[in-house]
Amino acid sequence: MKIKIVLLILVLTSHYLQAEDGHDLWLRSKSPVPVNIVCKASSQTLSIAKKELLQGWQGFENATVLLSLKKDKTIKNDGFKLTENSIQANTELGILYGTYELLRRQQTGEVIKDEVCNPSYENRVLNHWDNLDGSIERGYAGHSIFWRKGDDAFVVTEKDKVLWQEYARANASVGINGSVLNNVNSSPNMLKTEILNRVKAIADILRPYGVKVYISAKFSSPTVIGGLKSSDPLNPEVIKWWQDKAKEIYSLVPDFGGFLVKANSEGQVGPQDYGRTHADGANLLADAVRPYGGIVMWRAFVYSTSNEDRAKQAYKEFLPLDGKFHDNVIVQVKNGPIDFQPREPFSPLFGAMKKTSIMPEVQITQEYLGHSIDLVYLSTMWEEFLKSDTYQEGKGSTVARCTDGSIYPQKHTGIAGVANVGLDANWCGHLFAQSNWYAFGRLAWNNQMSSEKIADEWIKLTFNQTSTSKSISSKDWTENFLKQVKQMMMDSREAAVNYSMPLGLHHIMSANGHYGPGPWWAPARMRKDWTPPYFHQADSLGVGFDRTKASSNAVSQYHEPLASMFNDVNTCPDIYLLWFHHLPWDYKMKNGHTLWDDICYHYNTGLRQVHQFQQIWEKVQPYVDVERFGNVKERLSMQINNAQLWNDGCVLYFQKFSKKPIPADIDQPVGKLEDIINNDLKRPTPWAKH
Ligand code: GCU
Repeated sequence: MKIKIVLLILVLTSHYLQAEDGHDLWLRSKSPVPVNIVCKASSQTLSIAKKELLQGWQGFENATVLLSLKKDKTIKNDGFKLTENSIQANTELGILYGTYELLRRQQTGEVIKDEVCNPSYENRVLNHWDNLDGSIERGYAGHSIFWRKGDDAFVVTEKDKVLWQEYARANASVGINGSVLNNVNSSPNMLKTEILNRVKAIADILRPYGVKVYISAKFSSPTVIGGLKSSDPLNPEVIKWWQDKAKEIYSLVPDFGGFLVKANSEGQVGPQDYGRTHADGANLLADAVRPYGGIVMWRAFVYSTSNEDRAKQAYKEFLPLDGKFHDNVIVQVKNGPIDFQPREPFSPLFGAMKKTSIMPEVQITQEYLGHSIDLVYLSTMWEEFLKSDTYQEGKGSTVARCTDGSIYPQKHTGIAGVANVGLDANWCGHLFAQSNWYAFGRLAWNNQMSSEKIADEWIKLTFNQTSTSKSISSKDWTENFLKQVKQMMMDSREAAVNYSMPLGLHHIMSANGHYGPGPWWAPARMRKDWTPPYFHQADSLGVGFDRTKASSNAVSQYHEPLASMFNDVNTCPDIYLLWFHHLPWDYKMKNGHTLWDDICYHYNTGLRQVHQFQQIWEKVQPYVDVERFGNVKERLSMQINNAQLWNDGCVLYFQKFSKKPIPADIDQPVGKLEDIINNDLKRPTPWAKH
């Protein structure tokens, strides 16, 4: 008898632990209240909606919920009309999105008033940088959920199907409706038939959830796998090759979304190799997918080996092409002009290209923001970006409005996020990195949402269930858990900026996987704009990149009043100071500090903030299950080491130039610069063992 009880306890405990590994994301199972669903139509998507309602209903007991497919002009695309017990939409997917919204509001206690909810963007896409061998470029949560090497690389197992379905459900629950299945640095093999068959298998699972699949296509594919002599976009044989390839893909995946292309960028072949333009290249592929309703997302992440300020190059190459792209091309522009740094001003291409569909690209995976080790809630960064005023069509021409069709009549709209998903049980490595996947979806659906509301929702959906099982009062939970954790999330991005690249500093990370500091890194033969000294320009006189009219003149790519505001050191916001100006170490900041002191204070503030996060997390332990508590606790202690390393490495390195003392009222570095530099490239990347 005793043995039986012990066994039972073991089984129950292991089940409990497994259930808390974070795999359920924000979609944790609930005990449903009985409900009746009325829906005249039937389809796979509608069945999912019904099942979700039956499994998750938290409204009135035995309520009758009406799902109706009825045209309504106020409802756009995938939008829906919601009441407490009805969802109306033009499409089945609208019903599904309405279902998730209704359930979310019930669970988070948000009022459900009669309203229409329409998505801000038509295409809400995750870009997976997954390679065909299963590795993920800049991925920190295990291998690819789509690809693997080995004998069973092309076998579609039941396990694959379950995982892809869970993935599709998570995306649909936040409104994401597209997945690019492979790396922008694409393998040409991606377009081979055996791979396309796997793409079909994935598409079949994702389809009922409204998630279309896309492929990153290598521009040189006609030459590399097609056996043609050229990949020139104007060559008739090349045109035919792409048309045939599109036909083959659409015969397998009739609702294939289209292609994403990285061309003439970081060594990738592109139309310029044949004396053609980006528009020629994009139009070639766009014409091939046009008969089937596909689109081409053409990336504007380009910079050459020229002496031109790297921050100016994408604008210079793409602006002259405005109006030359076919209408099923969307030019995909990274949020900032350099490369997903912890803070950048918005790319000046936003709002400036007025006759071209433009979609923002943000990075969910934390390449420059502490991988999946550091707790950094990225929504505040994206909100800052989307709300940035470009002034291109007068005050209020925010990036959000310049890209979602509110200002320019774009045929297609979209937003893309580089995914942070892998095979780790909790999908994203760090439990809190899940909030970035969640936030991307929510902002793609509604680009006016506040990060605070998104954090509030995510915390409630992700943790609430745990608290109810421990009978903690809701007031207690709200005060001592929700508020504390929310504040930590809201402060976390600024903390990361503080301890890594404050005051407009950028691209000063280690070459070692881009984790940790590396302002010193400058091998002799390396191209200059890949090395941190190119970006920080520190010397005995001062620090910062002079992008004023007197120097690189990148400021002029911005519309007035921004150009003048950024150009004048007195009006340039502190957060962009060293992005636009090279200033003396004793420059007087608005707060009275010298620039040197202020740099030190920022690094130290960042470090202290991470210590505070650790204290907050210790205090909330009673509200979190053991496994998820442990995941975050372990990573917070690694984040402290990282913040300390950034603080010590940068302060000591810049001190070599400033030759000034570190203010006495802050923590002094604990490491030695020489050791930090010597160990820089030897340090094992912390996520490698996770
Ligand atoms: C960054 C990143 C690369 C990536 C590139 C891109 O440079 O480090 O891994 O390929 O961006 O966005 O194309």
